Amino acid sequence: MVISVIGVGYLGAVHAAAMAELGHEVIGLDIDADRIAALQAGRAPFHEPGFEEILRRGLRSGRLRFTTDYAELEPAEVHFLGLGTPQRKDGFGADLSHLESALDSLREVLAARGGAPTLVVGKSTVPAGTARRLSDQVEQIEGVQLLWNPEFLREGFAVQDTLEPDRLVYGLREPEGSQAEAAIAMLDAVYAALLAAGVPRLVMGYETAELVKASANAFLATKISFINAIAEMCEAVGGDVADVARAIGMDDRIGAKFLRAGVGFGGGCLPKDIRAFIASAEEHGVGEALGFLREVDLINERRRARTVELAGEMLGGVEGRRITVLGAAFKPDSDDVRDS
Ligand SMILES: NC(=O)c1ccc[n+]([C@@H]2O[C@H](COP(=O)([O-])OP(=O)(O)OC[C@H]3O[C@@H](n4cnc5c(N)ncnc54)[C@H](O)[C@@H]3O)[C@@H](O)[C@H]2O)c1
Repeated sequence: MVISVIGVGYLGAVHAAAMAELGHEVIGLDIDADRIAALQAGRAPFHEPGFEEILRRGLRSGRLRFTTDYAELEPAEVHFLGLGTPQRKDGFGADLSHLESALDSLREVLAARGGAPTLVVGKSTVPAGTARRLSDQVEQIEGVQLLWNPEFLREGFAVQDTLEPDRLVYGLREPEGSQAEAAIAMLDAVYAALLAAGVPRLVMGYETAELVKASANAFLATKISFINAIAEMCEAVGGDVADVARAIGMDDRIGAKFLRAGVGFGGGCLPKDIRAFIASAEEHGVGEALGFLREVDLINERRRARTVELAGEMLGGVEGRRITVLGAAFKPDSDDVRDS
């Protein structure tokens, strides 16, 4: 199939190269000309294990290329949206302006398809209600359907997670009916190799799909803040949080993952995603339901200050000391220093 990926950052660039790896013809687009030049030259603009390899293989095969020109996307039957959704400057909510401006630029390209079946597939993490609002605009163009297909990849494992995901989630305006079936069949064709390998595919409404992603990140953030809160308690009473985590992690209802006390979570996703989730709940009049996420955020913020305090305690003060931090990114095998 001919596919475009709009916004080739951490998510989009990996998605574009992975789709070429699956045998599709892929055009990646970004407004960042330097990024496009690097990708087109086979250079990864960020560190991600295995990415440069599939990028180069895609370029060599002739199935993968990059552009800054929306007009070149016209042949694509499926457009993936990999735009950033950062925290707004004036509050906790998500800034959707990148998505909106990309869709504005795409409108002409979609209209030029002359009614041929075309799928726009959102992969960005967005507040519930976003897909429906965007689809009201995009689906006015004949032949076009919008599907929301949230992404769960982990930086450091992005290539593997894109090619062998735990699950595929399809969010649709109406999950049933002939229109839905046509859209599902098109996305199934894109992911045919994954589906044949047994990756589960879950079909649901837009809002549910959006909430799956927000809930997954909220749960993971909560797990990290939970063990960090227990670390505060351990410090107060003289316990060892590593032993607590090891022992409770052996209960498979709890699980050992994301249960390592430390400096807290960072990166381009969890911090802004839980805040956007809080803001969205408040907008919908159910702020209390997600009030605990404020606490999760505060525990996380406290870890940063506590880390500096601990360093000070160990060094007899940090003033005037020269300190090396090994590993500035928010996690191993990534160079992502957003909120790290
Ligand atoms: N990074 C991850 O691990 C990850 C995992 C799952 C979901 N997500 C979600 O995916 C989305 C993208 O995240 P990311 O980390 O890849 O962000 P990113 O900032 O690395 O990439 C976004 C890209 O979009 C480009 N862009 C902005 N406006 C554009 C426009 N009008 N047209 C074309 N390109 C434009 C930017 O130049 C940038 O290269 C976010 O919603 C994020 O929450 C990210």
